[in-house]
Amino acid sequence: MKKIHSQDDFQSRIKRIIISEEEIKAAIANAGKEIDAIYDGRPILLVSILKGAFVFMADLCRAITAPCEIGFMCAKSYYEGTVSTGIVKITMDLEQDISNYHVIIVEDIIDTGRTLNDVIKLLKARNPISLRVVTLLDKPSRRLVDLNADLSLFTIPDHFVIGYGLDCAEYFRNLPYIAEYTE
Ligand code: IMP
Ligand code: MG
Repeated sequence: MKKIHSQDDFQSRIKRIIISEEEIKAAIANAGKEIDAIYDGRPILLVSILKGAFVFMADLCRAITAPCEIGFMCAKSYYEGTVSTGIVKITMDLEQDISNYHVIIVEDIIDTGRTLNDVIKLLKARNPISLRVVTLLDKPSRRLVDLNADLSLFTIPDHFVIGYGLDCAEYFRNLPYIAEYTE
């Protein structure tokens, strides 16, 4: 990606909005209700995968009325430009012992599935009471690992997207909507 030098430059990389703020809000309100129905008041631990899922986590946790704790893990998927290299590193681990928890992994996007696959393996080995995955976005056409979320808010085509926590070279996480990226 070419370095961003100005506001005009920043704006010119935003090709078009594919999911609006209002659509995200409505989908999260529904997801909160579905999660409440599944757990029926049992306490939950929401585990957000940083950095991309931080905005989704902030909104999703406020759409859930069940008692919940939050935790963070940092998994870095290495990209060359907008293409995944397949290298995933867990750079920050959870502080909680999850063996007494109903855990929900909160992800921004499932692309090849490799990041989530690694995180699931790691967390399963720690014997949570239950483990589910909720993702804001899903790009099933790109999957390299046989894996699906329990709850997926939007299925999108194979475009590199930015905004609402998702970045390109660390920029664009602050956009309140999901947009297609262009150089
Ligand atoms: P996976 O391991 O290929 O499934 O990649 C998942 C991670 O790659 C996500 O958590 C994102 O951080 C990043 N990623 C995948 N696709 C996109 C995209 O279209 N835009 C921004 N980040 C993406
Ligand atoms: Mg990313």
